[in-house]
Amino acid sequence: MAALIDKLEHAPARLICGRHGNRPDALLEILHEAQAADGWLNDDALRTIADALNISRAETHGVVSFYHDYKREAPAKHAIKLCRAEACQAVGSEALAAHAEKKWDTPTGGKSADGEIGLEAVYCLGNCALGPSVMIDGELFGRMTPERLDALIEQRIEKTERE
Ligand code: FES
Repeated sequence: MAALIDKLEHAPARLICGRHGNRPDALLEILHEAQAADGWLNDDALRTIADALNISRAETHGVVSFYHDYKREAPAKHAIKLCRAEACQAVGSEALAAHAEKKWDTPTGGKSADGEIGLEAVYCLGNCALGPSVMIDGELFGRMTPERLDALIEQRIEKTERE
């Protein structure tokens, strides 16, 4: 029985709920913080939050499914955000996005089958003069080309494998 309880308990979510006094009216904030802790909201976190706030799991799931900001899947290991706004479009961002979708066999908004690469569209990274702009794992790059993007991703995958 203890093993079952341990599996259902999500310690970071329990701590976050406690910091908010286990108040049901703090649900949105708690969900944001729980997602920030793991990068997504897994079943254990949602069960723990529902239990701590003394609300139903259905209520928690309802709130999570209503807001698109909440992620119910683990994020890819490497997040590629491709700027698709006008200034970057004018210098080739659409071709770059098409290359990335083909290269990692995933549509924008999805992730590769091996979970390595996630592709996301963003609309201006504040680097318009140096487009096409791309953010890889939070690092901004300008004047991106398909070849450079491939090389940067290969380097990151290799670095991750070494660690
Ligand atoms: S339009 Fe792409 S960075 Fe601004």
